[in-house]
Amino acid sequence: MSNYKAITVQENNKIVLVTINRPHALNALNNDVFEDLIRLFNDDLDPRKINGVIITGAGEKAFVAGADIKEFLSLDAQKARELSKRGHDIFAVIENFPVVVVAAVNGFALGGGCELAMACHLRVAHANARFGQPEVNLGILPGYGGTQRLVHLIGKGRAMEMIMTGDMIDGTTAHTFGLVNILCEAGAEVATATKLIEKIAKKAPLAIAETIKAVNAHFRHGKDGYQTEIDSFGKLAATEDFREGATAFIEKRKPGWKGL
Ligand code: CAA
Repeated sequence: MSNYKAITVQENNKIVLVTINRPHALNALNNDVFEDLIRLFNDDLDPRKINGVIITGAGEKAFVAGADIKEFLSLDAQKARELSKRGHDIFAVIENFPVVVVAAVNGFALGGGCELAMACHLRVAHANARFGQPEVNLGILPGYGGTQRLVHLIGKGRAMEMIMTGDMIDGTTAHTFGLVNILCEAGAEVATATKLIEKIAKKAPLAIAETIKAVNAHFRHGKDGYQTEIDSFGKLAATEDFREGATAFIEKRKPGWKGL
């Protein structure tokens, strides 16, 4: 894999652990982090060769405390639109990545950090993690998809409240709201995410990829999610893995997936 400036990337048993590595700034998303994530997801990761990706933050305090506020002062309206669009684009690549991506939220997930966690397919966190969209405190609103994905995940009323008050919620509340899939002990986020990926890796990989596509279609303007599901169902029924899955069930044995 490439040399990265602000993330570290380790692969173990086909699971890629991506750590946002700016602990001195609570892993705030600056230009370097964006460049690294774009290169990693667009060029370096081969979804056919891995079972999943975990994104976490360096240190014990934060997952990601937001966009890097120190880079904000030079923004004008045009540059801010471009920055927002860039965040939208990279987070969409993560959201549509055909292999499961799990956020291991190990502390503050604020602003762009909460938005990054929401762009992942699943989230694990400990009870004292902190989620929030505090942009109104800075005179802006969430710019990397937060006004949309938070509504999708926790509903309009709760999203309006979180975004308009800027209040943080803890991991337990986030779990109750449906923002966190699995609560774990502090320090066990990556291990818990690994177990979740290992469980999903036992399923047919093409079925997982089509599931990501069909579920995401529900939220994409101009996409008919029902039609996407019908097309995915037809596509999967023509795969070798579908024959294998159905035959294995009838023969009362475990299926051996080929990804074909
Ligand atoms: N950008 C840049 N630097 C940040 C940062 C951020 N988002 N968050 C924290 N840091 C830096 C601090 O400036 C500080 O650096 P120095 O030691 O050089 O002063 C260091 O990280 C440690 O932070 P604190 O001393 O503030 O730590 P704390 O424990 O007192 O507070 C915190 C923790 C509550 C998370 C606080 O740091 C905070 O409120 N951070 C900002 C959170 C925020 O507003 N995020 C939204 C950003 S805007 C955004 O993300 C827009 C978007 O949607 C695209």
